[in-house]
Amino acid sequence: MTSPDDRPAGGNGRRASPCTLVIFGASGDLTKRKLLPALYNLSRQHLLPDDFAVLAFARREASDEVIRDRFGAEVARFAGADLDVAAWEWLADRVHYLQASFDDDAAYRRLAERLDRAAEEHGTRHNVLFYLATAPEWFGPVVDGLERAGLTSEEGGWRRVVVEKPFGHDLASAKALNAELRSALDERQIYRIDHYLGKETVQNLLVFRFSNGIFEPIWNRRYVDHVQITVAETLGVEGRGGYYDGAGALRDMVPNHIFQLISLVAMEPPISFEADAVRDEQSKVVRAIQPMRPEEVLTRTVRGQYDAGESGGRKLPAYRDEDRIDPESSTETFVAMKLGIDNWRWKDVPFYLRVGKAMPRRLSEIVVQFKRPPFTMFRDTPVDALQPNALVVNIQPDEGIALRFGVKKPGASMGIGNVDMEFCYGEYFDEEPATGYERLLFDAMLGDQTLFQRADMVEAGWRAVTPVLDVWKALEPRDFPDYAAGTWGPDAAEALLARDGRRWWEDPS
Ligand code: BG6
Repeated sequence: MTSPDDRPAGGNGRRASPCTLVIFGASGDLTKRKLLPALYNLSRQHLLPDDFAVLAFARREASDEVIRDRFGAEVARFAGADLDVAAWEWLADRVHYLQASFDDDAAYRRLAERLDRAAEEHGTRHNVLFYLATAPEWFGPVVDGLERAGLTSEEGGWRRVVVEKPFGHDLASAKALNAELRSALDERQIYRIDHYLGKETVQNLLVFRFSNGIFEPIWNRRYVDHVQITVAETLGVEGRGGYYDGAGALRDMVPNHIFQLISLVAMEPPISFEADAVRDEQSKVVRAIQPMRPEEVLTRTVRGQYDAGESGGRKLPAYRDEDRIDPESSTETFVAMKLGIDNWRWKDVPFYLRVGKAMPRRLSEIVVQFKRPPFTMFRDTPVDALQPNALVVNIQPDEGIALRFGVKKPGASMGIGNVDMEFCYGEYFDEEPATGYERLLFDAMLGDQTLFQRADMVEAGWRAVTPVLDVWKALEPRDFPDYAAGTWGPDAAEALLARDGRRWWEDPS
């Protein structure tokens, strides 16, 4: 094995403290697509502690050797670049397997023994990060099992638990899960993950807003006309029908990913970059999202479901014809909404959001559109014909920021053209292949909760969408499917903005 001195530390010299990472659900999709590539990337960047072990916990029969081979093949497939063999072997040396079921008390006692062994063999000092990459119905039972085996107690080392999404399916279930976790763990041991917070451009929202002096003075209702958030995917449900048909686009994306984006765009400057200082401000924004009255749900929300069509160069069947979807399903695959934030900074500034599967292209962006100038002195150029200024933050796939403004078109007459001043991440910085989970795993090992959701934020998110879920449940949609795969959703999504004299930034035509 390599010694610590042979391996330079990355991450500004930060390296996580010695620990064992226990992955529950090690044979699942999340582990192979995201967690393993992320661990491998951390190993490549020398960010993992030398005294480190991974204990994969799953039901399938396997040995350490078998699991190392399988994980190796998955890393090679999903890490997105040529395999750095040394980095993988360094990690593979530390991987162990425990075959057991989540509902077997004896399994947790065996887990305790294996953790002792890892501490001796790898020097992990009884620090343990438990990662719940299981189906959500196991979150509670696994934490109970850990508690009964004394594994949540922090005598002798730290104990932290990463909880994946979905965190509940409504307010009541999220509260019940929070209560269950809190009966075994302290809030500072709970890391509720939202992988949007692992994306560089999402983290950059904080840096962009609070490390530049020029934007914050105009970042408010006096200058901002409205904000648009679009998260569009070309994919359909991709074999996740069992989960998705019970959830739908609203539950899947809005109270979690979209509200994280809104909170970072709309929050007040925190007093420091401490986890709770940042999360206090984020939480205030989510709590200030105006709850909708039932009649407002009808005018301020749009839902849709895709029909057969072509998206991202691929033919997609209608949602109802996808695997494990009810052929009469009334689950939405598209949602658009007009939200208000009830506070001094944002009163009367609409936040429009739009989320959909089977859209024409993959695009996640935030547009902050500014008010038009009050008066134009240029002859024959009515002010309404001018495009307003906008700041466009592109989260994926082309990470960057563009500022749109008007300039004089060259020539003898006074024509105005709209141009973009663009910053593109890839042009300025070397981008490492990343899944978005690297930073989050690393922070959890460091004990930094800034990019993880606190209980109150999760509950506030569900509280804000509950009126919509209630009205939608009471009124079955009658026109599903109502948009063809490969289009920007139902016409009603255009009408939502058109009624306010606005349009989506991305041209729908
Ligand atoms: C997940 C949702 O949380 O986020 C998926 O469950 C969605 O339905 C995914 O496809 C989108 O993530 P990303 O990183 O591809 O934008």
